[in-house]
Amino acid sequence: MHRLLIIILCSLSNNIYSAEDPVTGLIIAPGWELVRMHCGACHSYKLVTSQRADKEGWRDMIKWMQETQNLWEFEPKTEEGILDYLATSYPPRENHRRAPIVKNLMPVTR
Ligand code: HEC
Repeated sequence: MHRLLIIILCSLSNNIYSAEDPVTGLIIAPGWELVRMHCGACHSYKLVTSQRADKEGWRDMIKWMQETQNLWEFEPKTEEGILDYLATSYPPRENHRRAPIVKNLMPVTR
């Protein structure tokens, strides 16, 4: 009985927390199907999911592909949906640089 409960809980949490499409690897969130539809024709979805940017950053990348890589133009509504999804699911990473070294630990210079 307990084992059954554990199995049920595990499969539930799997559905809730690792909501990634097994085929594309895209995080399943509002707008993900737009990205599946428009962003897998020329390169792996991995190129998408390994990138991080804010909305403007994603907009710039899409513009770059449109200007130089033959990416098609989107209806404004479609583009907004794609950008909102990307900026929400693949936002900029936190900066993990360490804090500056305190002054009294630095070498003395003149
Ligand atoms: C018409 C073809 C095409 C489509 C469709 C396409 N891309 Fe690209 N994309 C490219 C090419 C070509 C590159 C450069 C690949 C390389 O450097 O090897 C690229 C590169 C990228 C990169 C890497 C950019 C970098 O600075 O390293 C990202 C991220 C990306 N695409 C995201 C997307 C997203 C998001 C979509 C959907 C909106 C999309 N792509 C749809 C052609 C396309």
